[in-house]
Amino acid sequence: MRKRIVAGNWKMNKTPKEGVELAKEINAKVGQLKDHSVEVILGTPYIHLMDVAKSVNPAYIKVAAQNCAAWSHGAYTGEVSAEMIRLAGAEYVILGHSERRKYFHENGEILNAKVIMALENMLKPIFCCGEVLEERNAGKHFEIVKTQLEEGIFDLPEEDFKEIVIAYEPVWAIGTGVNASPEQAQEMHHFIRQEVAKKYGKAIADETSILYGGSCKPSNAKELFSNEDVDGGLIGGASLNADDFLGIITAF
Ligand code: 13P
Repeated sequence: MRKRIVAGNWKMNKTPKEGVELAKEINAKVGQLKDHSVEVILGTPYIHLMDVAKSVNPAYIKVAAQNCAAWSHGAYTGEVSAEMIRLAGAEYVILGHSERRKYFHENGEILNAKVIMALENMLKPIFCCGEVLEERNAGKHFEIVKTQLEEGIFDLPEEDFKEIVIAYEPVWAIGTGVNASPEQAQEMHHFIRQEVAKKYGKAIADETSILYGGSCKPSNAKELFSNEDVDGGLIGGASLNADDFLGIITAF
């Protein structure tokens, strides 16, 4: 059975103190749940990682960075390595988010280097893909997502690919309040799983968690997660409030 996952992406929000408070609140609420089969992940800014990791029960809650360097170490001012992130207590790293592609010009080649660096340091990549509105309107969304997967993760050996979580985040749904419809999400998730199956075989495709991201909230999470190929969510805005985030974690 593939893992069901709800991951928060805090983006550039919360001071370190506020981040620890939020993590503690989420930890307390998740601790009270009877069912801990959903993997809960908090994707924090770099400088929050160590303190947040110490504030949560690692049996219930994992921590993720939102980026990592494409190099192992050295003279790269301002960068943070996958090894540093791992040793700060993170288990996951979000890579290929559309905001990194757009504002920091991260292309397939750079993202592939980051994915490899993460895996070498035992960090599990949450690899994001998704089309912009013009691409969807032009009927190019499948092609775009396929290319992003091919460039970023489809050259990995099987053993490494098994560590990957995929997040489909249509860019037009991120932070807009307009989520993909459950049908649109299922259609793309099914397509992604088929592409994984073509490349790595059905058994691996069936074990790959594919998350949906883009204006996911407690009121629409159940409908989105009830689809066969939607294994959870990557949550932006609604992950910044413990009650909203809990509403999503318990929406399966
Ligand atoms: P929102 O949930 O705020 O739309 O953001 C989604 C996202 O970008 C998660 O990575």
